[in-house]
Amino acid sequence: MSVKAEMKVVTVTLNPAVDKTVIVPNFRPERVVRAKEVYIYPSGKGVNVARVLVRLGVKAICLGFVSGHFGTFLVDGLTCEGIEHDFTTVSDETRINLTIRDPETGLEVHLVEPGARVSERDWQRFVETYQRHISDASWVAFCGSLPPGAPTDAYAQLIRIARGRGTPCALDTSGEALRKGVEALPTLVKPNRQELEDLVGEKLDSDEKLRSAILQTHKLGLDLVVVSLGKEGAIGSDGVNLWKAKPPPVKVVNTIGSGDALLGGLIFALLKEMPLDEALKFAVATGTANTLVDGPCYVDPQDIHEILSATSVRAW
Ligand SMILES: Nc1ncnc2c1ncn2[C@@H]1O[C@H](COP(=O)(O)OP(=O)(O)OP(=O)(O)O)[C@@H](O)[C@H]1O
Ligand SMILES: [Mg+2]
Repeated sequence: MSVKAEMKVVTVTLNPAVDKTVIVPNFRPERVVRAKEVYIYPSGKGVNVARVLVRLGVKAICLGFVSGHFGTFLVDGLTCEGIEHDFTTVSDETRINLTIRDPETGLEVHLVEPGARVSERDWQRFVETYQRHISDASWVAFCGSLPPGAPTDAYAQLIRIARGRGTPCALDTSGEALRKGVEALPTLVKPNRQELEDLVGEKLDSDEKLRSAILQTHKLGLDLVVVSLGKEGAIGSDGVNLWKAKPPPVKVVNTIGSGDALLGGLIFALLKEMPLDEALKFAVATGTANTLVDGPCYVDPQDIHEILSATSVRAW
C-alpha cells in the first residue's frame, strides 16, 4: 500500500513530551516504590501521528516547541527514527510525562506535566515556521494540549491559515483548545467520548445521544467527525452516513498513543482516498495495533493488516 511519493503531512505538537514508562509489578503508593523496568520515548500526540505515518511509508514532518535537555533528547530520537522535524526552540524545559504501569493488575497511572512556557515572540516564530512548511503539505494534523503561554485560540489561528490555502486539517485536542479550534472549521475532528461530551456539554451515555452530538458537531460546518471509543473501536461520520468499526479482542500491553495511532491510520487512509467506512476500519486497526507494542505508536504494519482482517465495520 503506497501513497503518492510527493505527499507530505505536517503534524503540529505545540506541547510535546518525553514519555517515560516505569513498570512496577504490584504497585502501591508507598514512600519508596521500586520500578522493575523503565522505557523512555520521544512523544507528544502529533509526534506519535507522524511516527505512524512514517511507519506506513508517508513523509511526515513534526513542528511545535521544544526546549532544554529533554527537547534535545526528543529531536535526536526523532532523527534516529528517520522522522523529519523542525521544532521552534524555547527556553524552559520540555516536559516528561510519567506512566506507572502495573503488569499484574493492568493499572496505569499517567502523571502529566503542564509543559514548557512559550512567549508571544516564540509563538510568532512558530507561526513563521508553520507557514513555511504548510505550503506543500497534503494534510496538517493539530494534536494535543496547548503549552502555558500559547494563545487559547492557537489552533483556530493555524487552522484558518491551512484552510486559507485549501489544505485539509485534522484537530485532536480537548477542552477549550478543542472548542475554540472547531470554530475555525478543521476538515476532521477526532474526539474520544469524554472530549465530545465536554464539547457538547452533555453526558453521552446512549447511542442516541452520541449520534445527535456527532450530528450537532457537523452543523458547525465540519466535514468529518470520528469519535474513538477505546476497545469498542470508533464511529465515523460525514454528516450523512455514520459507520462503526470494531476491532477484535487483543492482548493489550499499552494504551498510550492509541488515539494518535488511530488518527495516523485515518490520515493515511484518507490520503489513499479510501471511502469513509474503509478508512475508519483501517484507522481502528491501526489504533488497536498500537496496543500490542510498548511505546507510543511504534506500530508494526504487519499487525495492522492482521487486525484489519478481523475488524468489522457497519452502518451505524
Ligand atoms: N483496549 C483496547 N483494545 C483494543 N483496541 C483499543 C483499546 N484501546 C484503544 N484501542 C484502539 O485505539 C483506538 C483509539 O483509542 P481511544 O479511543 O482510547 O483513543 P484516545 O482516548 O484518543 O487515546 P489517547 O488520546 O490516550 O491516545 C480505538 O478506536 C481502538 O481502535
Ligand atoms: Mg486522544
